[in-house]
Amino acid sequence: MNRQRDELGPAIPASEITPRAVFEQRRTIIRAAAAGVFGAALAPWFARQAFAQTAAGGKLASRPNLQFVLPDKLTSYKDVTGYNNFYEFGTGKTDPARNAHTLLTRPWTVSVDGLVKRPKVYDVDELLKLAPLEERIYRLRCVEGWSMVIPWIGVPLAELIRRAEPTGNAKYVEFTTLADPKQMPGLSVKVLDWPYVEGLRLDEAMHPLTLLTFGLYGEVLPKQNGAPLRIVVPWKYGFKSAKSIVRIRFTEREPETSWHRAAPDEYGFYSNVNPAVDHPRWSQATERRIGDGGNALFPPRRKTLPFNGYAEQVAPLYAGMDLRKFF
Ligand code: MTE
Repeated sequence: MNRQRDELGPAIPASEITPRAVFEQRRTIIRAAAAGVFGAALAPWFARQAFAQTAAGGKLASRPNLQFVLPDKLTSYKDVTGYNNFYEFGTGKTDPARNAHTLLTRPWTVSVDGLVKRPKVYDVDELLKLAPLEERIYRLRCVEGWSMVIPWIGVPLAELIRRAEPTGNAKYVEFTTLADPKQMPGLSVKVLDWPYVEGLRLDEAMHPLTLLTFGLYGEVLPKQNGAPLRIVVPWKYGFKSAKSIVRIRFTEREPETSWHRAAPDEYGFYSNVNPAVDHPRWSQATERRIGDGGNALFPPRRKTLPFNGYAEQVAPLYAGMDLRKFF
């Protein structure tokens, strides 16, 4: 994985930045709602908000899911969309924001196949209507040691999996992402064996936290964040959250993933965030929250939480497994 010095985000036109104040205000209200201050009276307000969001181009309406509100401060829109890993558009942190404009996100299809009773090629606009879109605030922890807190928009991946009806033999789900050299300048560099492939165990893919993601910060996914659709798996290192997916295949055998193929000793199939298991070349005990300040030499660091803070929800998936062996 790239280890170059962190850079600041690129210049993003002011017109593209969701007014932070609006978001902050909304979040305060969500918190109050989570604390039971407003109760049902809030529903019409959220409905209006959702409608208002569809009015302008690029906006994506959703309902906040109050189960996934965090006490953490949100990472700024500028950092979320300006400091990225998307090697198909370059290995520098600011490369994706600069280069991803060449990605064509319509028409876009996703093939759902393999060990399923109902294989199907879906148009992305059909997937957008699978279930009501939810906004969920998740932590994302990159294997490189930085993290962000992002308001994603999506639906549980389980909604799609249930429609596909996996057969009894299906044990894993493989995600293949777009690899088109005409659209993706980074493919000329063989940092990885393209296309980018990731995988989950079927029960991980079905877990209610696993989000099929179409947007963030009230907007459709910016291209550098994996438009038009990606997954977000918040208890695993960020590289499991594959961007710009074109195929979802159900398999009996564990999929061979790109990062595992590139460096099997460094990137295991599971890749659960685990402060007790160091990467062979660096510690995973702490992380730097992007936007926390400090400088490149002495960034403030916070303790990394087991399963990135989602242990209560996901630890049972790994009961009885030696997570040092299955890293
Ligand atoms: N998906 C593809 N197709 N290509 C990539 O290079 N990078 C991964 C993941 N998904 C990557 C990808 C890594 S290492 C991380 S940390 C996250 O995307 C970053 O997501 P973000 O840029 O939206 O924060």
